[in-house]
Amino acid sequence: TSSTDTLIRAELVSFSRDPGDGDMPQPGSLEHYGDGLLWLKGQHIHAVGHFSELSLSLPEGIPVYDYRDKLIMPGFIDTHVHYVQLDIMASYGRQLLDWLNDYTFPEECRFANHAHAEALSNAFLDEMLRAGTTTAQVFGSSHPVSVDAFFSACKSRQLRMLVGKVLMDRNAPDALLDGATGIADTERLIADWHGKQRLGYSVTPRFAPTSTKIQMDAAGALLRNEPTLWLQTHLAENSGELDWVAELFPGSRDYLSVYEDAGLVGPRSTFAHGIHLNNDMRKRLAERGANIAFCPSSNLFLGSGLFDRAAAKQTGMAFTFASDIGAGTDLSGFGTLKAAYQVGQLGGQPLTAWQGFYGLTMGNAKALSLDNHIGQLAPSLEADFVVIDPQATSLLSRRISHCTTLGERLFALMMLADDRAIYETWAGGRCQHRRDRSQ
Ligand code: GUN
Ligand code: ZN
Repeated sequence: TSSTDTLIRAELVSFSRDPGDGDMPQPGSLEHYGDGLLWLKGQHIHAVGHFSELSLSLPEGIPVYDYRDKLIMPGFIDTHVHYVQLDIMASYGRQLLDWLNDYTFPEECRFANHAHAEALSNAFLDEMLRAGTTTAQVFGSSHPVSVDAFFSACKSRQLRMLVGKVLMDRNAPDALLDGATGIADTERLIADWHGKQRLGYSVTPRFAPTSTKIQMDAAGALLRNEPTLWLQTHLAENSGELDWVAELFPGSRDYLSVYEDAGLVGPRSTFAHGIHLNNDMRKRLAERGANIAFCPSSNLFLGSGLFDRAAAKQTGMAFTFASDIGAGTDLSGFGTLKAAYQVGQLGGQPLTAWQGFYGLTMGNAKALSLDNHIGQLAPSLEADFVVIDPQATSLLSRRISHCTTLGERLFALMMLADDRAIYETWAGGRCQHRRDRSQ
């Protein structure tokens, strides 16, 4: 019925496929309507087009939101983030293994408590929406209650989210080890939540050093029995970690083969970081259709190294963009792209705004096999999008006024924008964040 129609007039930007690496997007990859209309029916997008054309066929009596000074893009997607680490962002001065022991593990112990997990789930989702992120693949803690609380918070907001209980049964404080119950708890969470509403379960062995071979094999068996599950873990982030893995798995050919042997590498697998890989490992990841989550602000913060995007492209290995909060320093997709640009510059691989915003939306959706649901402004997809205000700050406004092309404006946003430029965030056909309401 017409009561579920929503009409928004704005500039619309969306990618239907990879725009390529050139200065201009590949023909047919970019959909851009300078004066566009976004027509929602309930939780879905019904039509997208030029205002002048679509407005001829509109239902009567429906008010049109006039956002002609705003720019709408699909909601941003974050393929790797730890909600349980929100409160330890910006903890000073260590590389990965010390940072885990000194800050991360003690913090995650707090998530055995349901009230704490519930409060942090809501605080985290508020921050994600404030930053324009509508979907994320999320690590809980090793406590099942941390994941129940998170799913429950996502369910009441009707968000599309992936999350999993961390599996870890060695080399960490006792309070975090899940021992023999980790797999049974995972099965129970899958039965309760996977595929319900817009929720999906991502099987989550933390990384090879904190899981026994027995636990990783059991995680692989879960994936074999239920191919619609996702898998998330960490791979080749830091040199201290590489030495430790080599010591713990002396019989393995390399770090990736530890995960391959357990059956954890497939088209729904996301491996965070992948900084210290060779081309053989990259090709094996490409063959199995797995993706590496590139987490530039985290890699810079922990001094882990510079992700090699050119080598990824050369070997056909998919990569996605992610914040990796709490080692990451920025929840904002703009901030992630800015850091990715800077990492790229240091390696002679600058990132175009086309690549950046394609990656943050359709690229990430595709790598997570969610592109039937989200990632574009297109009919029948779910109505998850961000309303960007290019005049959000006086500086941004000045800079944007000097831009003559869309490419220049998107690049200026990538380098200068932050959560102040997110005027509204819509998810599931509803406005779930408005800037002026909750700064
Ligand atoms: N490797 C294993 N656990 C973690 C974590 O929590 N954060 C990061 N950045 N790397 C990890
Ligand atoms: Zn991580």
